[in-house]
Amino acid sequence: TRKIIIDTDPGQDDAVAILLALASPELEVLGITCVAGNVPLALTTLNARKICTLAGRTDIRIFAGCDRPMERALVTAEYVHGKSGLDGIELPEPEMALQKAHGVDFIIETLRAHPPGTVTLCPLGPLTNIATAFARAPDIVERVAEIVLMGGAYFEVGNTTPAAEFNIHVDPQAAKIVFGAGVPLVVMPLDVTHKALTSRARVEAFRALGTPVGQAVAGWTDFFERFDMAKYGSEGAPLHDPCVIAYLLAPDLFRGRHINVEIETVSELTMGMTVADWWGVTDRPANALFMGDLDAAGFFALLSERIARL
Ligand code: BDR
Ligand code: CA
Repeated sequence: TRKIIIDTDPGQDDAVAILLALASPELEVLGITCVAGNVPLALTTLNARKICTLAGRTDIRIFAGCDRPMERALVTAEYVHGKSGLDGIELPEPEMALQKAHGVDFIIETLRAHPPGTVTLCPLGPLTNIATAFARAPDIVERVAEIVLMGGAYFEVGNTTPAAEFNIHVDPQAAKIVFGAGVPLVVMPLDVTHKALTSRARVEAFRALGTPVGQAVAGWTDFFERFDMAKYGSEGAPLHDPCVIAYLLAPDLFRGRHINVEIETVSELTMGMTVADWWGVTDRPANALFMGDLDAAGFFALLSERIARL
C-alpha cells in the first residue's frame, strides 16, 4: 500500500476524491489536513469530518491547517460550491472530532516519522499547508516520495481569472514554493480535469447504487453540474480533484509531459498563472509531470467501481 496525506478544502470534487481514496485498499490515508479555499477553514474541517463519517471511517485523523494564504487575502468560491462548500445533499453531523495538532505540524511530524520516500502528498486545494510545512521544516522536503496535486492550467487557461486556476490563484506564493522545491511533482491541471466530465448517465449511475455514498456523490455532482453547465456549456461538471487519487491507482489513464512550470507571483493581471513550457521553448529544467490528457471512460469505470464499495 501507498501511504498518503490528503490536503484538501472540500468542496464536492474534493469529497469524491476523499471517498475514492477511502475505497481503495492500495492507499493508506495517514491523515487529512484541511486548508481554507473553496470555503473558510471552519467549513472545510467540518466537511472533511462529514465525508469520513458518511464513509464510516471515523478512524481517519483530520487536522485543521492554515486559515488563510501565506501573503494574500483569502478568496473563496461559494459561487461554485454553495454556502456550505458541500451543497447538493444534506449530510448528518460528523461523529468525529478534529485532531488537536495543527495540520502543518502533522505534515512535518509524519514525514519525519516515516522512512524517506514513503509518504506521498496529495494536495486538492490551495498549497498553503504544504508550503508552510516546507518553509518551516526544510528537512522534510527530501523525505517526500512525490506530490500529486490538482492545480493550474495551460491550454485551458483560467477558471478563476482569465489566466489562473483557483487553487494556484488563491495562494500563488505557496504554489511557487511547492513547484520550486525539487520534489517529484505530478500536476493535474484543468486541461485534464475538464475531460473528467460527469454526464447525466454517470450521475444517475451513482444514484442507482442506492447507498448513502452513491446518493451523496450524485447529489454533489448534480449541484456542481448546474454551475458548470451555465459556465462552460459542457455536458457535466469536471471532477477535478478525483484525478489526483485516480492517478495513484491507475497512472496509465493519464498522458502528460515532463516540463518546466513556473508560477506567476508578480503581475496582478496574471497572478497565479502556471507558466507551463509545454513546447520546450526555454532551457529551464523540467520540474513537473504536467498532464494533458485523460482516458475519461477508464476514469469513470474506476471511480464507479470504487464508489460502489462504500
Ligand atoms: C479546483 O478548485 C476547487 O474549486 C476545486 O475543488 C478544485 O480543487 C478546481 O479549479
Ligand atoms: Ca479542491
